[in-house]
Amino acid sequence: MWSSPALVVALFVVAASSQPPLLAPSASGSAAPATSPNASATTPLSGPPTFPVTLLSTNPTAVPLASLTVNPPPQSTVPLDTTYAAGATPTVVSGAPPLPDISTLSPANYPALDKVPPTDSPQVQQWISELSGFTFPDINATVAGGCPANLAAVADTNRCWWTCSQCTRSTDIITCPDRLTWGSSFDDGPSPYSPSLVQYLNQQSLKTTFFVVGSRAISRPDFLRSEYMGGHQIAVHTWSHPSLTTLTNEQVIAEFGWSKKIIKDVIGVTPIYFRPPFGDIDDRIRAIAAAMDLIPIIWTSGVASNHVSFDTNDFNIPAGTVSASGVIDNFNNILGNASTLNTGFIVLEHDLFQQSVDLATGYILPQALAMRLTLKPIISCLNLPLSDAYLETNNNSTNPLPTAVGTSVIPHSTNGANASPGSSGSPANGNQNAATGMNQKSDMWSWAGGMLVGLIGAAAAL
Ligand SMILES: *[C@@H]1O[C@H](CO)[C@@H](O)[C@H](O)[C@H]1NC(C)=O
Ligand SMILES: *[C@@H]1O[C@H](CO)[C@@H](O)[C@H](O)[C@H]1NC(C)=O
Ligand SMILES: *[C@@H]1O[C@H](CO)[C@@H](O)[C@H](O)[C@H]1NC(C)=O
Ligand SMILES: *[C@@H]1O[C@H](CO)[C@@H](O)[C@H](O)[C@H]1NC(C)=O
Ligand SMILES: [Zn+2]
Repeated sequence: MWSSPALVVALFVVAASSQPPLLAPSASGSAAPATSPNASATTPLSGPPTFPVTLLSTNPTAVPLASLTVNPPPQSTVPLDTTYAAGATPTVVSGAPPLPDISTLSPANYPALDKVPPTDSPQVQQWISELSGFTFPDINATVAGGCPANLAAVADTNRCWWTCSQCTRSTDIITCPDRLTWGSSFDDGPSPYSPSLVQYLNQQSLKTTFFVVGSRAISRPDFLRSEYMGGHQIAVHTWSHPSLTTLTNEQVIAEFGWSKKIIKDVIGVTPIYFRPPFGDIDDRIRAIAAAMDLIPIIWTSGVASNHVSFDTNDFNIPAGTVSASGVIDNFNNILGNASTLNTGFIVLEHDLFQQSVDLATGYILPQALAMRLTLKPIISCLNLPLSDAYLETNNNSTNPLPTAVGTSVIPHSTNGANASPGSSGSPANGNQNAATGMNQKSDMWSWAGGMLVGLIGAAAAL
């Protein structure tokens, strides 16, 4: 709907209804008059627009920017407006099962919070054995310390390590296909501030994607349920939020397994999308994720000018490394860069800290509304139904799982995600690909060819 250049100009003219119109200089340097976003503007967009330095809030209850510091004034959290009983039917997700009973959820049945789960538990051992038919790329784990501490891994471009090069595979979701469409995401919750965000989103009929940390979900299951029942997409963000490339294969399986399990135990369905914490993914992590029916979503990065990352950096306000107005500058830059893309974009925000949520509900989201930007959960920006976000309700023929399209292992020799189809008669139990009719799990075995390395053996080498 934003395909017309005139509308694009209007898009970047800030026109908050209750405020005097602002002048937004157009790319040519002349000032375009502010117009209602619905009015047709006449100046064509000939280059990147420039923004006002500071966004104006359209939310009268916004916490002043100057208060959004390392230590913001204490504020009472918003209680959930609704809690959902066991057995309630989630009408927002077509075909979803009734909500499970969470009154019996016991943290004692889950791993310790915020720690990489042990791999010798019966549950993790079961997940490991379920994956024994898969072979994962023999890529060394990285060590803590990021790129400077891992020069050999950085140099090994075959592993396609996003962290140090923004390398992506075609299986990574990093944009929304439609121009100026914003795939919205909030990571690291649910937190005490999540209900405030959910309340605002629901009031404004906005939907987002929540990348949920398992340790937070077991701590606040009702918050997670309200996000899900509000029609927001729920996706996996691991159990303890580690840098996944630093873990062994078994630890990665434990992180994915427990976070999928707690989400299913709370909302009754299992996400098939995940975001690696810090975007830390390489081909080994991609392969394990795919084998566990998880599709990576990162955020838009490395495709616009200056390789700008569509990360608002809002989570760094409590650490004092960015100010609230610095986050708004980042947001301005994101929108400016978004206007130069032929695709949409995925923005990273967080709902873990009060400051990030206050910024979102006070400034960023109101601004997006005032600009009539199209915000969507990522599943929706991909033009898929919300039901396709979950294993149990996904339409497998129109949205095939990674294992059904042969992506559970990624050959280093191609920059595509598709393992070369093979013909070897390998172990059965593969999924049938509706399109090709091929037994895809067998294909993966055949890609591995003679260099089959058992899961345990591969991990032992790490
Ligand atoms: C992987 O790690 C092993 C053991 O630390 C080391 O000997 C080997 O050189 C590493 N391989 C690569 C490609 O970095
Ligand atoms: C893109 O973002 C960068 C900041 O990383 C900024 O310098 C640049 O002006 C932005 N581009 C546009 C067109 O807004
Ligand atoms: C899609 O496949 C998954 C895994 O095989 C299955 O659990 C699910 O029920 C299927 N979805 C539908 C709508 O049949
Ligand atoms: C999957 O989508 C196709 C095409 O829209 C539809 O014909 C089919 O009924 C759907 N299957 C399920 C299980 O919803
Ligand atoms: Zn995170």
